[in-house]
Amino acid sequence: MKKVTIYPAEQFTFKTDAIAPDKSISHRSVMFSMLAEGESKVTNFLRAEDTMNSLNIIKELGASIDDDGKTFRIRSEGIKESANILDCGNSGTGMRLFSGLLASAEGHFILTGDEYLRRRPMKRVTKPLRDIGAKLDGREDGDLAPLSIRGGSIKAFDYESKIASAQVKSAMILAALSADGVCTYTEPELSRDHTERMLKGMGAEISVDGLKTTIKPMKGLLSPLDIRVPSDPSSAFFFAVAAAIVPGSTAVLEGVTLNPTRIEAFKALERMGADIVYETTDDRYEPIGSITVKHAPLHAITIEDNISWLIDELPALSIAMACAEGTSTVKNAAELRVKESDRISTVVNNLRYCSIESEEFEDGYTVTGGELMTARVESHGDHRIAMSFIIAGLRCGMQVEDIDCINTSFPNFFELLSEVTKVEL
Ligand code: S3P
Repeated sequence: MKKVTIYPAEQFTFKTDAIAPDKSISHRSVMFSMLAEGESKVTNFLRAEDTMNSLNIIKELGASIDDDGKTFRIRSEGIKESANILDCGNSGTGMRLFSGLLASAEGHFILTGDEYLRRRPMKRVTKPLRDIGAKLDGREDGDLAPLSIRGGSIKAFDYESKIASAQVKSAMILAALSADGVCTYTEPELSRDHTERMLKGMGAEISVDGLKTTIKPMKGLLSPLDIRVPSDPSSAFFFAVAAAIVPGSTAVLEGVTLNPTRIEAFKALERMGADIVYETTDDRYEPIGSITVKHAPLHAITIEDNISWLIDELPALSIAMACAEGTSTVKNAAELRVKESDRISTVVNNLRYCSIESEEFEDGYTVTGGELMTARVESHGDHRIAMSFIIAGLRCGMQVEDIDCINTSFPNFFELLSEVTKVEL
């Protein structure tokens, strides 16, 4: 398992259009191509472990893929049963969305993942999918992978979800496309909406009214996708925090999706005092553009609303909190406990190793700004924990252990980071 040493950064100006492509959109682009008639084109796909696992799975399901190094041309003639186990690696998105996609496919399928994914809760998708007729099972009554799926008929449903989860919503929308009538899905807060936008773009009859999504079953196959995957705001955010915490610095992050359900962490950083400007340059499936972040003194913040819009960025935001004046509080964020690691305890414990005061509670934590001190911290196999504490190292130097996980989402992270500071791998 590799480790890295990061050295403190001097004031920097960093401009890039090479932030890794969006992970959520990349997963969806290959999965949804399985629902299209004709050739889908996907450019700038994220070639990272999580999303390459999804690509390999659609190959197992019968898709043919032509890759010229820039664009995948994907053709499928419906989902075919595979003789192999389908490996989602570290990806909860992969496993949960494939569960919905395969719930109505003809055949028997097994989904598995790495040791971390096999510990994460799957009942949030297996339960509602079973309720509408899908035949899914797994350890602990369907809560833990490996999952087995025997595709079958899906009953029309009106489902009210208790959690704001795009993964659950997407799994149910995918199942609804093959249901025997019109379905509705309501969530308590709007979660990221790439699934609705992309499927609508492919001609699916999906309408959204506030928190309620109505899905009409597909009459035949959908139109092919033609998409250039924008850069991932969750990956871009590490460099936003970098600029915000190193005095005198600026980061210009180009070609990023500006989907409102994805840029809430930048808004939070702005509320903490950072100087941030957004510029929309394109609109295809969703708004795309640049985000410029300039350092300014930061102050504490309370985060309690729209948690699902910034859930993935909270570890990195916690590094900004550690550099801010006052005590910041994160509430209503129990979902952090079931991410790639228990992110409440991994953030709090690692901050303490860096001499920052931080208190953990059931659904959140506090961070009191102070002087970050160099330390040796563990990623716990979690890419976002690894990258967040590497960014903390820009202030004080840091050693981060077990960094291979960064390849799940941001393979060129160190290449970009070395434009900002000295990195010893
Ligand atoms: C994702 C949804 C979020 C997010 C995850 C990616 C997606 O999870 O944390 O990294 O692509 O749908 P939940 O839907 O469980 O909140």
